[in-house]
Amino acid sequence: MNAATRIPVTLIPGDGIGPEITAATLAALEALDAPFDWDRQTAGLGGVTACGDPLPPACIESIRATRLALKGPLETPIGGGYRSSNVRLREEFKLYANLRPGKTIVPGGRYDNIDLVLVRENNEGLYMGYEHFIPIDDDPHAIGMSTGVNTRQGCRRICRFAFDYAVKHGRKKVTVVHKANIMKALTGIFLETARQIHAAEYQDKVIMEEIIVDACAMKLVMNPWQFDVLVTTNLFGDILSDEIAGLVGGLGMAPGANIGADAAIFEAVHGSAPDLAGQGIANPIALMLAAAMLLDHVGLGDKATRLRRDIDLTLNVDHVRTGDLGGNASTQEFTAALVARLRAG
Ligand code: NAI
Repeated sequence: MNAATRIPVTLIPGDGIGPEITAATLAALEALDAPFDWDRQTAGLGGVTACGDPLPPACIESIRATRLALKGPLETPIGGGYRSSNVRLREEFKLYANLRPGKTIVPGGRYDNIDLVLVRENNEGLYMGYEHFIPIDDDPHAIGMSTGVNTRQGCRRICRFAFDYAVKHGRKKVTVVHKANIMKALTGIFLETARQIHAAEYQDKVIMEEIIVDACAMKLVMNPWQFDVLVTTNLFGDILSDEIAGLVGGLGMAPGANIGADAAIFEAVHGSAPDLAGQGIANPIALMLAAAMLLDHVGLGDKATRLRRDIDLTLNVDHVRTGDLGGNASTQEFTAALVARLRAG
């Protein structure tokens, strides 16, 4: 392969189990002969440790140059401390669409044949961080307040993304998930915009359905097969995508892509799993599936298909599985088995 066909990508191994699952994913991509040139950067707790900044300028500059990143999980302190580096990256690069597919790979679980795609609005809603406490008497946190913001432009963008995705991938239905009965402005604008865009541009191309978020959460457990593509606002999308991950074997199987006009960042849905870090037992598949989404994104769909196929064969024919999937393989043992499959072609 000549130098001109190589693709520079920013690599952020991340915190906790991040370096372990990143090493596994790089081994798989190398076995696939994927033409990526990695620019290694730190962020999250790793950024704080290395240079006192959870999102170092060098990391931002790298993504600005490559416009692509593969990212491990980044730790965020709970209740105080620095703001999430993930949220800041989404803001910095206007990564407005968070694409989270949930597909059964290991059959025989509680649910079989799941094939759902959740499209989450990634820049607005209750994640804007417009939050404050109001002190009363000697309680500095007597009142906690948060303001959510959804804009017409943001709603249009994410609804079009979801409808376009459904049409392009031959999906039948897009379900718009909202809470417009209670949050009439914040999620009302989202539902109203979805209806407008669908009526004007997609009526003949794909079915649109509406559902209130609480009913959606229940129906996903009762009968997930009734759904196809789901589109929703930021917080609801965060929660429902973890629920969908639970339908397909847990967070170790759930990849995600953050896509904007100027950049795309691929990651596992799960966090840094501090309870597993350093033990070599984390499931690397979610990040590997995110790498498959990266391969699709850069037009290397044949390699993405091979990666997904060989993950499937390693799990279901070779029966090599990590603990979260009921097996006893270490991260390295699973990776070695997968690499052997990939090298066999
Ligand atoms: P988590 O996703 O790290 O862990 C939740 C549960 O899933 C734990 O029991 C963990 O052991 C398990 N798990 C996660 N990934 C796994 C894997 N690959 N293989 C096997 N089991 C796995 O969520 P938690 O504990 O709420 O968050 C830990 C840290 O991660 C926090 O600092 C949080 O802010 C951060 N986080 C970062 C994300 C990102 O960078 N995109 C996403 C979610 C959380």
